[in-house]
Amino acid sequence: MDRREPAGRQIAELGLLRVLHVAAELYPWVKSGGLGDVAAALPPALSTFGIDVRLLLPGFAGFLDAFTGITDVARLRTPYAVERVRIGLARVPGSAPLAYLADHSGFYDRPGSPYADPDGRDWPDNHRRFGLFGWVAAELARGADPSWRPEILHIHDWHAGLAPAYLSARRPDSNHVTTVFTVHNLAYQGLFPAVLFPELALPPEFFSIDGVEFNGAVSFIKSGLFYADRLTTVSPTYAREIQTPAFGCGLEGLLRSRSHELTGILNGVDPSIWDPRHDPILPQSYGAENAASGKRAAKAALQRRLGLADCDDGPLFGVVSRLTPQKGLDLLLACFPEIIADGSRIAILGSGDGDLEQGFARAAAEHNREIAVEIGYDEALSHLIIAGADAVLLPSRFEPCGLTQLYALRYGTLPVVRRVGGFADTVVDATAVTLADGSATGFAFDDESPAALMSAIRRADVLFREPAVWLRMMHQAMAQDFSWSAAARRYLSVYRELRPDLAP
Ligand code: ADP
Ligand code: GLC
Repeated sequence: MDRREPAGRQIAELGLLRVLHVAAELYPWVKSGGLGDVAAALPPALSTFGIDVRLLLPGFAGFLDAFTGITDVARLRTPYAVERVRIGLARVPGSAPLAYLADHSGFYDRPGSPYADPDGRDWPDNHRRFGLFGWVAAELARGADPSWRPEILHIHDWHAGLAPAYLSARRPDSNHVTTVFTVHNLAYQGLFPAVLFPELALPPEFFSIDGVEFNGAVSFIKSGLFYADRLTTVSPTYAREIQTPAFGCGLEGLLRSRSHELTGILNGVDPSIWDPRHDPILPQSYGAENAASGKRAAKAALQRRLGLADCDDGPLFGVVSRLTPQKGLDLLLACFPEIIADGSRIAILGSGDGDLEQGFARAAAEHNREIAVEIGYDEALSHLIIAGADAVLLPSRFEPCGLTQLYALRYGTLPVVRRVGGFADTVVDATAVTLADGSATGFAFDDESPAALMSAIRRADVLFREPAVWLRMMHQAMAQDFSWSAAARRYLSVYRELRPDLAP
């Protein structure tokens, strides 16, 4: 019997556990990275377990334009310079959960990315934009919508990191709500100068080492890490790594002190979006039984689309990524001459760091039949690269979970990864042992150097020229099951530990 059912039923019998997920991004409307994918997939997965989940989102134009039938739930007077904030409620199009929208005219709804102006500069009032977002989360937890008050407030990343601080400031009349804070990326911290602290309407004593202060600044992520009742992050390895100076971004001491309250839970793949059997972008859908021919068709389509020379006997390496130092793609740039000399091809889709964009674009201009580079954000092309490449290159310096390798595995596209964070937990390196027992699904390396990356690429290149071995690895990759329901079950146990009164 499916072990999911009893847990869901037990909770349902006691009345549904109400959980409010708070996130700044939601695929497909507002997304700068994997956070948007997670916010779109985790709440519906939790709903299937009998949890009554809702979302809180900032009133970005992407949401206000797409969500129809937004009804007013409350208009709250705020302690901020912003006088009133409107809380709307709407159904997320095509999905089960309802979403609250925190809206204040012109506050969230601005051109550019959610966080920065069209020139890439952070908005100067981000402390207020996201401070207010956290304040609204806390108010909803305290009953701002009288018809639905959550028992658990589940906050993702720094954006609403102040919410647990606001709740802590309102004890004991916020004691009924418990908070979970999930770190998707410790490197984005929501840091603001100390002089702005008085604008955040927190008690003065909260600006201290036992509070939101971090190296003399206000840190939204530290607020979440310090005040939330439970902490999670998106892979078991990252949960360990962030307790060390190499990955802890200065917060390792705090994280170590809360080690027993920190859990690493891997993300999943949403098969309604990432599945080679039902992907409308592909010239030919495929599963394990016709993986070789499906991959050939996708590879041919990708080469055509990008103007790359055919390379049936050599591997085509793909990259779909934000171009930031985190992703380690400067290491890849240094490997280009050798990759081309080996007769391989590279297809890159990404945007971000100007130097990297220019470096990649220059290389593509010099070798336009071997290297293709598309600067920008393109969902359709991202699917074609994940399907059409033989392997994806992921030399990240750190990687909390990583979704691209999970998508790639599902498409039989073998990941070449640095052995960090979620990569270490999800990719099985091809060694004599794992090739013999059939568990190999990709290639992993340790050193943060072009030489180490290049040696993993070479290992992939060599095995690619042994079609039977490669196909076996493809099958093994496609057989991996990183489902959202497995992730949801783990979050459910965290909720049950927090609220044994609600779910025995
Ligand atoms: P991160 O959140 O650190 O960027 P993840 O691997 O968790 O890394 O998630 C990245 C998500 O963003 C994936 O869904 C990936 O396909 C997508 N993505 C990244 N860059 C692009 C791009 N240029 N165009 C389309 N999708 C992209
Ligand atoms: C972050 C991380 C990435 C993770 C994603 C979703 O953006 O960089 O590794 O997969 O969040 O959790």
